[in-house]
Amino acid sequence: MFCLRAATDSAWATSAVTDLDAVLVDHAHCEMKAATNALSLVVRHSSDLGLVRALTEIAREELEHFQRVVDFLEARGLRLGSPPVDDYAAELRRAMNRLPATDLPLVVDRLLVGALIEARSCERFKLLIQVLPESCPADLRAFYEELFACEARHYRQYVDLALRAAGSLAALVEPRLQALAEAEAGIVRSLAERDARGTVHG
Ligand SMILES: [Fe+2]
Ligand SMILES: [Fe+2]
Repeated sequence: MFCLRAATDSAWATSAVTDLDAVLVDHAHCEMKAATNALSLVVRHSSDLGLVRALTEIAREELEHFQRVVDFLEARGLRLGSPPVDDYAAELRRAMNRLPATDLPLVVDRLLVGALIEARSCERFKLLIQVLPESCPADLRAFYEELFACEARHYRQYVDLALRAAGSLAALVEPRLQALAEAEAGIVRSLAERDARGTVHG
């Protein structure tokens, strides 16, 4: 899907849907991280107001997703708890730092990491939707379908923002995304070996 180089094992989704409560708790943390990641990019690259505006809009949408997942948690009597250690995002950023240097500004790599996280969560929402049990409430199913479309749009927005930030070096963005996607695929495979379950985004 999109730029992804490794498909999530279909066993991930069949395992995940056996505990939708756990999926929801994990999902809430992922939405909050998506919002804070977009805002941290705003803080780091505040001189570009076009970028600031686009990223705050993404953050606003992620925060709204977070609030809506919290609504589902509340309705089910679940607790949010502390966020789990996010090995996927940490390893993705380490992989980004290991890529060979180019003339591209660092913001491009950071935006492409955002794009990959969006692409992976989108892929996983699709897998989840395909195996949701009959007992899954209609509003939760509809929410996942809505999010699938929204995270796909975020993926495209992050890639477009990276192209824009690259300016005259835009031709370097696609190979950079491919290199990051290759690293991301390795991370997903290795995390799957360590823990078959994984999270909504990795
Ligand atoms: Fe989201
Ligand atoms: Fe998103």
